[in-house]
Amino acid sequence: MCGIVGYIGRERAGSIMLDGLKRLEYRGYDSSGMVVNAGKGLELIKRTGRVKELEDALDELQLGGNLGISHTRWATHGDVTEANAHPHQSTDGKIYLVHNGVIENYIGMKNFLIEKGYSFKSETDSEALCNLIAYHYGKEEETTAKNRFLEAVRKSLRHVEGTYGIAVICDDYPDELIGARKGSPLIIGIGKGENILASDVNAITHCTQNVVYLNDNEVVHLTNNDFSISTVSSKSVEAVIHQVDWDTSEAELGDYDHYMLKEIHEQPNALKNGMRGRFSDDKSTAVFGGLNLNPQELRQIDRILFIACGTAWHACLIAEYLIERFARIPVEVEYASEFRYRNAPLDKNTLVIAISQSGETIDTLGALREAKRKGYRTLSINNSVGSTIARECDGGIYQHAGPEIGVASTKAFTSQLLICGMLALYLGRLRDLSYGDGVDIVKAFKELPELVQEALKQTAQIEAIAKKYAKYEDCLFLGRQLMFPIALEGALKLKEISYIHAEGYPAAEMKHGPIALISEDCPSVFLATSGEIFHKSLANVQEVKARKGKVICIATADCEIPDGLVDDIILVPECHEIVKPILMSIPVQLLSYYVALERECDVDKPRNLAKSVTVE
Ligand code: M6R
Repeated sequence: MCGIVGYIGRERAGSIMLDGLKRLEYRGYDSSGMVVNAGKGLELIKRTGRVKELEDALDELQLGGNLGISHTRWATHGDVTEANAHPHQSTDGKIYLVHNGVIENYIGMKNFLIEKGYSFKSETDSEALCNLIAYHYGKEEETTAKNRFLEAVRKSLRHVEGTYGIAVICDDYPDELIGARKGSPLIIGIGKGENILASDVNAITHCTQNVVYLNDNEVVHLTNNDFSISTVSSKSVEAVIHQVDWDTSEAELGDYDHYMLKEIHEQPNALKNGMRGRFSDDKSTAVFGGLNLNPQELRQIDRILFIACGTAWHACLIAEYLIERFARIPVEVEYASEFRYRNAPLDKNTLVIAISQSGETIDTLGALREAKRKGYRTLSINNSVGSTIARECDGGIYQHAGPEIGVASTKAFTSQLLICGMLALYLGRLRDLSYGDGVDIVKAFKELPELVQEALKQTAQIEAIAKKYAKYEDCLFLGRQLMFPIALEGALKLKEISYIHAEGYPAAEMKHGPIALISEDCPSVFLATSGEIFHKSLANVQEVKARKGKVICIATADCEIPDGLVDDIILVPECHEIVKPILMSIPVQLLSYYVALERECDVDKPRNLAKSVTVE
């Protein structure tokens, strides 16, 4: 949540930061702003609305300057107003700050500062930290000029409870930029004669591929030719520079109207990349390089706990079905935000696996840290190389799905399902899954990208169905077994981008309550696949039809659906059970996309949401 870009170097800070903000806009998009050292002093500019509003204002101003900080906001404290937009400026006008996170003790801080004569223009927690830095800066007069600004930042941060990723500049130090993090991501891009601070790698790859990942409680001091890292308590830290292997064109929209549509269509490739080099035909199993657990250790695991949020949590539910079915290991799934504060008793042979596309979701990170604190082995499945979750786990599996920009997760979800399926295969083959079953599963995975391509050919038909149903304000998604999590995901997808009220249920649960919602005005999307319970699903469809409910049925091609039973049918290719959740997700995603389009919603930037949720 919230995107930060800071720049110091030889280029025009304004345009580099603007470029970075556009790439970070998916982190928050209710207002934006920047402050630039434009020769005659620091120039502050803020706008409500999308980054485009800021861009238009900057076009008029034509600001020069080689130092600046900027921000795109997802509101936590205070309305969407220019006053609440970042950067914030201290009462004395010297300090400017952008912040991502939540300062939990800001009220006490604010009261203290008001007593000291500071005034506040915004309702934000961030302005309190800005003024606290100004306060310490004022008190540091005795300190040598060289360290005064840096020392004031470090001293202030020692008083902060909560989370922050910040970038700070000071009017008296036109050649210095300071950043710090605790709980909210911040990276440093190391260039030639220029350095950049940003919330994620996406914002800097147009300038440099050399990255330092700042850790919690670290502060970085940047000039255009140098940088040094220390802890908040002033101990120096040795920096490790990583090379990011990132093709910037992957994050471009290209010929697509929306990132969501682009990412839906990228799924065959994303899946291929997730599988590349990860199968042993010889042993009919999957192979993972970074688990840091040997087969012996994995055989001793007698329970797996998955933690995640949102769409990634739905991927965990699929993992539960697949790992229990193919590897026979008991699995539990917890919302990360609940697990973190629940103090659940776990066995010492429990393996904790966090799933997160961004690798920065604060609830997932917090739950993971709690599991680590209690001594459990931890793994992660995530899509962002070098993210905090990836770095803090004992081992993990990267999804390699490529950057996902659309707020609604699509290719990251199916690539999580792929990794979970491959993990089920790997763990199964370490235990009781036979060679022959392994061969069938490996074959099913290898055929999958083709089948997904096939499923994508239904686009025009799904668009036509979406047009018919876009007028409804309520919708149910129903499925059994492996299709239940896909029903949950379908409902989440529809509600987040089209603002239609949607609920996902196990199809048989419907008659225990939700059936009361069924009417001509509340359609149901049934997810049915072939297999032993297919006929039970059909019985549930009959129950809806008997109550005049309209039914869209998404099914695998080998399902025999009686003529006239449902209102609309979307078929995906027949396939092995382990890949069914992936194939069935494709029409679900397309349906949501086209319904949202029909309702003229902002598909890639739905209201109130942000891509990477870094506040609790
Ligand atoms: O980056 P993460 O996978 O940790 O994100 C978790 C959720 O915030 C995310 O999946 C969210 O639910 C999606 N935007 C939904 O499409």
